[in-house]
Amino acid sequence: MSITPPSPASGVPLSRRRLLQIGAAGAVVLGGSYAGVRLWEDSSPVGPGSAAVAKAEAARHGTGTIVHRELTAAPATVDLGGRTVSTWAFDGTVPGPEIRLTAGDQLQVRLLNKLTDPTTVHWHGVALRNDMDGVPDLTMTSVPPGGSFDYSFVVPDPGTYWFHPHVGVQLDTGMHAALIVEDPNEPGGYDDEVVLILDDWTDGWGDSPQDILTRLGRDGMGGAGMGGMGGMGGMTSPGQPLGSDAGDVVYPAHLINGRLPQAPVTINSTPGRRIRFRLINAGSDTAYRFAVGGHRMTVTHTDGYGVRPVEVDTLVLGMGERYDVVVTVGDGAFPIVAVPEGKKGPSAMAVLRTASGSPPAPGARPGELDGKLLSYGDLTPTAAAALEPLHPDREIDLALGMADGGRRWLINGAAFGDHKPLEIKAGERVRLTMHNQTMMFHPMHLHGHTFAVATSAGPGIRKDTVNVLPMQTLSVDLTADNPGQWMAHCHNAYHGALGMMTVVSYVA
Ligand code: C2O
Ligand code: CU
Repeated sequence: MSITPPSPASGVPLSRRRLLQIGAAGAVVLGGSYAGVRLWEDSSPVGPGSAAVAKAEAARHGTGTIVHRELTAAPATVDLGGRTVSTWAFDGTVPGPEIRLTAGDQLQVRLLNKLTDPTTVHWHGVALRNDMDGVPDLTMTSVPPGGSFDYSFVVPDPGTYWFHPHVGVQLDTGMHAALIVEDPNEPGGYDDEVVLILDDWTDGWGDSPQDILTRLGRDGMGGAGMGGMGGMGGMTSPGQPLGSDAGDVVYPAHLINGRLPQAPVTINSTPGRRIRFRLINAGSDTAYRFAVGGHRMTVTHTDGYGVRPVEVDTLVLGMGERYDVVVTVGDGAFPIVAVPEGKKGPSAMAVLRTASGSPPAPGARPGELDGKLLSYGDLTPTAAAALEPLHPDREIDLALGMADGGRRWLINGAAFGDHKPLEIKAGERVRLTMHNQTMMFHPMHLHGHTFAVATSAGPGIRKDTVNVLPMQTLSVDLTADNPGQWMAHCHNAYHGALGMMTVVSYVA
């Protein structure tokens, strides 16, 4: 198997960008000062620098292997395949360089910031030590232009993860990449592995992420150039599993591994080989419906954790979600497509090929897209991924709301900065219940933990990012086993930046 082509890039400075640094007004735990509200009079927040965080890290039994990397965040000019854009990237490429290691390894990354704005790296989905989580003003001070930061942490669990900045809407530039954690006891069941990163693209082509954020904050969802239904949204239906308005932003392009459909990544293989695709939605405002033309897919993991294998034709990934699927390769040239779900826009495409013959045309719409669609209800966790069914010690509600016609997005009536931290104690079993009071879906993500999506029948699938549908109430269960201060937020980059974020705060 071979994959072509890599995307070339070179550095060109940009100066047009101003970044809104979210979190500056938020609860600051660094150094022990704290602006939150006490649930327990005599309790105090467990900060990232606390002994409890160091103790939890010491208990993560490592392999002893240290993986060193250096990552440079800098302006870059990148060829998307016939279209060159100026953006921000890690090491000059979109996506950035994959980091691959084995569960239990220690990852040491030196981040060099050559941007004109502060930045951080967040390791999405990894149950890591709190002071390495990369959230400005909550777990670390953001890295100033010209500065650097040394990340160092044990990566405890195998799976498909990714990393991206956690400042403003930097996520909607080219700064994202895969973090693949191999399982030392990998059961296999496949011959080859391919990582596919799906992304919505505007930077250096359409409006800049900062301009989009400014306009959404000023005009709400009725603003010119916005997609969907002008904020009206609509309930889910069989054809629209996320509702009729799943995004606010119309993107000029959608990419798979940084390439346009006109010059797609091509996976060359042999009939009968089993390919494990690791799918990552790195989009900022786009859910994707994914399919491989001429093939069914066996779903094996979601958000890094195992599920009992299920065969489907197509599946939808919300922003931040991952799926691993296995495909047995047929003979021919097939489109691999990711279609924006619940919004307008061209699709993203890659090509799977074993034979010569003409490549699929950009815009190909294989019938699998309308076939059997995966839903969470089809999935059950593997025995290893199932959480013990325990009665929750603490139940916390999160009301997901919208205000001012989409100019602000709220959790429990407050935008981030005015939020009340959600306090829990180490060792508790916690149930978070999300009440979506809006007509858009929200891919809700919790840092530092992998929760179980609650079901009425049996153990729920383990995930760190879950789509909460319009007007839906959905609960997730977790064991409070990773002390610190952890973001819980919508992974729509614009909803997050306009307020839909809060903090799950361990207190002692
Ligand atoms: Cu990928 Cu706070 O998120
Ligand atoms: Cu949202």
